[in-house]
Amino acid sequence: MDKFVITGGNPLHGEVIVSGAKNAAVAILAAAVLVEDTCVIENVPIIKDVKVILEILRQLGAEVQMQENGTVVMNCSNLNTFEATSDLVRKMRASYYLLGALLGRFGKAQVSLPGGCDFGGRPIDQHIKGFEAMGAMVKVEHGNVYATTVEGMKGNSVYMDKVSVGATINIMIAATKAQGMTIIENAAKEPHVVDLANFLNYMGANIKGAGTDVIKIKGVDKLHGGTYSIIPDQIEAGTFLVAAAACGGDVLVKNVIPKHLDAITAKLVEMNVEIEEMDDAIRVKRSGKITKANVKTLPYPGFPTDMQPQIVALLSVAEGTSMVTEDVWDNRFQYVSELKRMGAQISVNGKTAVIEGVGNLTGAPVRSTDLRAGAAMLIAGLMAKGTTELQNLEHIDRGYENFEQKLCGLGAQLVREKMEE
Ligand code: EPU
Repeated sequence: MDKFVITGGNPLHGEVIVSGAKNAAVAILAAAVLVEDTCVIENVPIIKDVKVILEILRQLGAEVQMQENGTVVMNCSNLNTFEATSDLVRKMRASYYLLGALLGRFGKAQVSLPGGCDFGGRPIDQHIKGFEAMGAMVKVEHGNVYATTVEGMKGNSVYMDKVSVGATINIMIAATKAQGMTIIENAAKEPHVVDLANFLNYMGANIKGAGTDVIKIKGVDKLHGGTYSIIPDQIEAGTFLVAAAACGGDVLVKNVIPKHLDAITAKLVEMNVEIEEMDDAIRVKRSGKITKANVKTLPYPGFPTDMQPQIVALLSVAEGTSMVTEDVWDNRFQYVSELKRMGAQISVNGKTAVIEGVGNLTGAPVRSTDLRAGAAMLIAGLMAKGTTELQNLEHIDRGYENFEQKLCGLGAQLVREKMEE
């Protein structure tokens, strides 16, 4: 177990390069199971979640090489099982994409129920609804999902009762090589949904409409190999924008798609932060006080739930009272008690946090309760007076590539230390 020892109060200056998108990478790597040829996938972030999914794919019989520059070369021709039930599968959320991938490849799948961050209930009923519409018989027993078909997956129309990134992606993967046309209505529109569709289309799939709420997938018999580069990580970019706004200073966040960050940059401007957009970079400057704002998380193109903890950390020192409403997950405010240890004044009532801005946070021993909460606590430590010890870094390591190196490159003061037993 590692911890960060953070000395707060230093403005951030300089340039930082954003890595490839975690949530696109984990979907694309799983979807590569459909390709019986060599895929070269570039701009893959070297993070724990990616290492875990690659290890699971190796266990299934895939040949996988990860290069230091973030290029993954993989070949799933010799995949020899439809069962993914190892301990690793239970550790991460995105392992549920193996359901769609193995169903698409073999017409059957047996996959352990996934793990991942704890935000209250994380049902997969919409994934199952989609697979059943496509002819699969699905049962959940003994911690595993068992899905079988008589003659492979068959295209159908699926209306999502709730906008779900995971279900949209899983059904898209399962439909890529199904017989006939699948239409997903009320689909998620997140950038990584579009990135996955682009990857599959590069490899020979026929998917139209990704990025809108109706996606049409005409099944193809075979996919071919090729080279594909993953989009930059929207949430990592947003985290650096908020960190720079929190600490003050002047930072150029490079390798971003500014359009993906519109909801975040618009809020930062409202909060008195200077934003300058370029083709593939955003400059963020803050010299005055942060001002209050109200934020509601929503599916894309709304404000992302994965930026909610970071923005709450920033609003904790704003002038005035802000309200942040979490409209995607039932229980994503566990980290608030940690922020309060640092002097934040926040009360949570159901899905809404009311944040009374305080002049300063003060350093304290705190912990990460999940991935984005960990990023928020790190930002809080960077802007606090004094020293913060942030524990449970395993969450941050799952999703941010070289986080401390990138922050230290901007002038942040933090060191990783081993915790004493
Ligand atoms: N939902 C259902 N039934 C389902 C699926 C989802 O009711 O079958 C509900 C969920 O309970 C939630 C809402 O729908 O209330 C949205 O869930 P979604 O399926 O969109 O989430 P996810 O696919 O499990 C992905 C990201 C999360 C991110 C959410 C929302 C991955 C691996 N994870 O999760 O990312 O919060 O979309 O944008 O892509 C993170 O990166 O830190 C992270 C948690």
